[in-house]
Amino acid sequence: MTFSKNLLKAFTAVSLVVQGAFALVSSGVTVPLYIYPGDAPACAQWGPVITAVQTYTDLPFYIVVNPNSGPGSTATPDTNYQGCIPLLRHSNVKILGYIPTTFGSRAPSAIVSDANTYFNWGSAYKPDGLFFDEVASDSTNLPVYQNATSGTRAIWGTTAPIMFNPGVTPVAGYFSLANFIVTFENTYSVWQ
Ligand SMILES: *[C@@H]1O[C@H](CO)[C@@H](O)[C@H](O)[C@H]1NC(C)=O
Repeated sequence: MTFSKNLLKAFTAVSLVVQGAFALVSSGVTVPLYIYPGDAPACAQWGPVITAVQTYTDLPFYIVVNPNSGPGSTATPDTNYQGCIPLLRHSNVKILGYIPTTFGSRAPSAIVSDANTYFNWGSAYKPDGLFFDEVASDSTNLPVYQNATSGTRAIWGTTAPIMFNPGVTPVAGYFSLANFIVTFENTYSVWQ
């Protein structure tokens, strides 16, 4: 099985992403937009990203939104997230909701619960898919991700993009679960 590679720049960090079984896109940019947007409708802190997605319309962007190390404990995010996420939405953009998975020690039910929370956000600000962070890479923890991904797909369907971030190359089983896998996490100079 061969995989094409995407070099994804994220601010000063880079991520090498290997495509999983589902994806057929070329290069793109992943942005871990873990910062607060500022007040809507200006959304000043997200301004450079909002400008970038409108400027580079041929470039796929995968933008990870992360209200509170996940979707937060409330059913919907605060009104600034509700007002600013729509400004990121373009034909070249997939918005991904951040979900921590704690390298296999987080319960799959908690992961699926976060996925369900994002799924039920209002359509104007609902993500297009999900970003699983702190993903394990070994065979011991693979069943956690098989379970969590099955439960997530049962809610989200089979076509929503799911990106895993183990930060290293995982064992083969992970590649059939995620659309994208971040296999390198360091600065660009180290990657070179
Ligand atoms: C995940 O594991 C739980 C507990 O073992 C089980 O009840 C559930 O059916 C599993 N879900 C999937 C989608 O495999």
